[in-house]
Amino acid sequence: MSNYHIKHLEEYFSVYRKSVRDPELFWSEVAEEHFMWRKKWDQVLDWDFDKAEISWFKGAQLNITENCIDRHLYTRGNKTAILFEPNDPKEPAIHITYRQLHERVSKFANVLKDQGIGKGDRVCIYLPMIPELAVAVLACARIGAIHSVVFAGFSATALSTRINDCGAKMLITSDGSFRGAKSIDLKGIVDEALEDCPGVAAVLVAKRTHAEIHMEAGRDHWLQPLLDDAYGDCVPEVMDSEDPLFILYTSGSTGKPKGMMHTTAGYMVYSAYTFKNVFQQKENDVYWCTADIGWITGHSYIVYGPLANGATTVMFEGVPSYPDYSRFWDIIDKHKITQLYTAPTAIRALAKENLDFVTSHDLSSLRILGTVGEPINEEAWHWYNDHIGKKKCPIVDTWWQTETGGILISPIPFVTPTIPTYATLPMPGIQPALMDENGEEIKGNQVDGRLCIKFPWPSIARTIWGDHQRYKDTYFSAFKGMYFTGDGALRDEVGYYRITGRVDDVIIVSGHNLGTAPIEDSINEHPAVAESAIVGFPHDIKGNALYGYVILKETGEGRDRDNLRKEINQVITEHIGPIAKLDKIQFVSGLPKTRSGKIMRRILRKIASKDTSNLGDTSTLLNPEVVAEIMKEAL
Ligand code: WT7
Repeated sequence: MSNYHIKHLEEYFSVYRKSVRDPELFWSEVAEEHFMWRKKWDQVLDWDFDKAEISWFKGAQLNITENCIDRHLYTRGNKTAILFEPNDPKEPAIHITYRQLHERVSKFANVLKDQGIGKGDRVCIYLPMIPELAVAVLACARIGAIHSVVFAGFSATALSTRINDCGAKMLITSDGSFRGAKSIDLKGIVDEALEDCPGVAAVLVAKRTHAEIHMEAGRDHWLQPLLDDAYGDCVPEVMDSEDPLFILYTSGSTGKPKGMMHTTAGYMVYSAYTFKNVFQQKENDVYWCTADIGWITGHSYIVYGPLANGATTVMFEGVPSYPDYSRFWDIIDKHKITQLYTAPTAIRALAKENLDFVTSHDLSSLRILGTVGEPINEEAWHWYNDHIGKKKCPIVDTWWQTETGGILISPIPFVTPTIPTYATLPMPGIQPALMDENGEEIKGNQVDGRLCIKFPWPSIARTIWGDHQRYKDTYFSAFKGMYFTGDGALRDEVGYYRITGRVDDVIIVSGHNLGTAPIEDSINEHPAVAESAIVGFPHDIKGNALYGYVILKETGEGRDRDNLRKEINQVITEHIGPIAKLDKIQFVSGLPKTRSGKIMRRILRKIASKDTSNLGDTSTLLNPEVVAEIMKEAL
């Protein structure tokens, strides 16, 4: 039996049982057998969910990049570590071997040091999906700097908020970025953001689009000349297990984004372990996760998990629709991809296009398909299974979160029998619980409730950067002694889990986590807007789309409504980014509120989904008449 690589269902059950019976023994064996430590731990686990304090492998020392790069040099030095596929298919793909990656990361790390960056400093990375992004992440980890990657689709305001929240001293960016036929002025966004970020002393700029950009004297430096001069070896900083590795922001249902902080050893062990099992990785595989490294999926399953296993991981710069809708299938054919890991939104969008885009390509290299980020509907699951996997590739519907660091519930391909829309069984070490509204655990099968996790796993986030109280309140106070996920789930008769969706005010749009309150706050900045409420409604491709109910100030009332809609979306784009734009905006004279002044979102959700046959109890409303008006004018 192998703890590390599960190959049969019996083995899964026995490994799982062991992981629950004696988690410390289980994880210490995994950690011992498969990773490189400078010093072993004194204590495997120390935890207190009431205080929201968790540490794994206490007292151990390591560097994650030694595990992701150095230790492969003897056995896999000439193997491709990162395969870069550019936005434009006419540009050649780039194979970066483990040896080359070692040199590039070392040089980059030395540049960071020369710029005065050291252990514990925060470095913000705002880059498109080019090799420099993965190299920058690893270079930070090499010297013990804490990286905070901000998705390059975020706006200047979103970027400056994150930079200031984590106190980054340096920003790494590029002149611009390519996205399909468009090129984006990334550096322009950076310049705007940095007007509000006095703490950023240096900006490193990679060249990608060769656009003319402004370089601020004394602050901005072209990256390449610095790399050219840097020494190609960098002794890794020896880190403690619980030293922070990165901060990654995720939106909450209220307030500013939460900087989830992950630490070194536990994150490494868990992301590597789950990658190995969920993708049944073999030596000659070419694995492709289509996410952006700006999200946790990219951190764990493009960079750290695959590299810790010595895998070949693909980085794709472009979009599924460019030059046409066959791009994904073309890449699979061209690089003989063995595992494809993508989002249901992408599958739904591609399933709408002509099937010739798919059938004109050879997809026979595929062995395993994965989905992540949102529930996958049955229709999309079947299309993926029939047309992409040709009914031969198991689909792993992987459920997890930025906060969890790695996949918590997922089938293990060729091990766990799959059922469409079910994330199926917990990974070893994961102890799910379904809770009712009174805080009691719902035992048995064929039940549904709020999904919690009873016991810590190595890659659980350790805190919200700068706000431990909020971490405790958000995740550990709803149900005593448990980590609360914010999701609802059901458990079927055989114990399989199906995620039913968020139970809080977070809406998953195209797989992106969006809190309603931050969007409302930004809309309310528009001079003509008095108040607003955002809800989600079902959308064919995006899963959910956003519906905004907006009350205008008197000054706004005479204005052209379509122009106002455009302006409101413009405000959202500036504050958050285009991903948070509203699909529908309805102007209303009031919002349904309870006597205590709380907006009844349940009613607004029903109206937005055109499901008004039963609005439920409206008797507690302060202003029931407004509901009829909103329904009459609903879009
Ligand atoms: C939320 C977390 C997981 C990395 C990318 C998103 C939803 C995620 C699934 C799935 C149904 C899913 C949940 C979760 N979600 N995976 N397989 N089935 N829902 O990370 O941005 O932190 O979002 O995404 O609602 O809580 P995230």
